[in-house]
Formats: sequence, structure tokens, C-alpha cells
Amino acid sequence: MVEKKELYMEYVWIAIIIAILASFAIVMVYISEAKGYDTPSSAVTCNVRSLREGEVLQPGVKEVAPGVYEVTLIARQWQWMPNKIVLENPNKIIFKISSEDVIHGFEIAGTPVNFMIFPGYIAEIEWIPPKTLEGTFTFLCNEYCGLGHDSMYGELVIVRG
Ligand code: CUA
Repeated sequence: MVEKKELYMEYVWIAIIIAILASFAIVMVYISEAKGYDTPSSAVTCNVRSLREGEVLQPGVKEVAPGVYEVTLIARQWQWMPNKIVLENPNKIIFKISSEDVIHGFEIAGTPVNFMIFPGYIAEIEWIPPKTLEGTFTFLCNEYCGLGHDSMYGELVIVRG
């Protein structure tokens, strides 16, 4: 026969497990609602041919609000367009990047910016750089994309003042 005390401990552990699962659910709801993260089903797609013809993304830098920059890049074997970005006092940088051919990776060395670029999808990432961050940073492709992979890099210059 099961002792009363053992049964009591069963309920305690069931309560602990429910509390853990509930905290996971709360964290997921918080991340999706408060932080605005979405599942991959909300991905923005594009036609690779129209991307090549310049109809989808215009590579370059646009200041959409004071200190808020939209940086549009196109990745292709084996270069970034553009491969030099200069930003003055950026508070927020919105990267919009797609690939014309194969999978590439976009990484800004020395920063947390690091994401994959898939052909047919527009990767959109927001980055709030630290207020004191300035200087020249190398951005590079970190997914092997063919013979010229190692020549696929560029320069991000952050100017403060
Ligand atoms: Cu592009 Cu490696």
C-alpha cells in the first residue's frame, strides 16, 4: 500500500513540473508578444530573378529616421553589394539582405550580428549597436558558398561625433 507521505510527494512533483511548463509557456508568449519575434512562417520571400533585375531590393543605405538606418545588401557569389557601409551615429540598424544564388552567411566580426541569407528569402534583422561602438568592422560571409567564399567580405564604418 502507498503511504500518504509518498503520495503527497507525488503531488509536489506534479506541481513543480506544471510550474516549469507554465514558465516555458509564459516566456514563449512574452518573447513573441513583447519582443515581436515571429516563427519562420512569417518569412518574407522574394523571387530570385526579380532580385537580380533590381526590382525587389535596392542595395544601399537609407536613413529612415534620425539615427535609424536601413541597410540593404545583396549577396552573390562572391561579393556583397555594396561592400562598404558608412553610418554616422547609428542608434538602430535594420539590415535587409537576400541572396541571388546560394546560401550565404552575414556576420559582422566582433559583434553579435550573424545570420544566414537564403535565396528567395529576405532576411531582416534589427541591431541596436552600443552607443560607444565606433570604428571599422569587417563583415563577411560565414557559410561556405564556393571557390571565392574567402573573398566575400566588406567594411562597416561607424562614425561617432
Ligand atoms: Cu558567400 Cu561564403
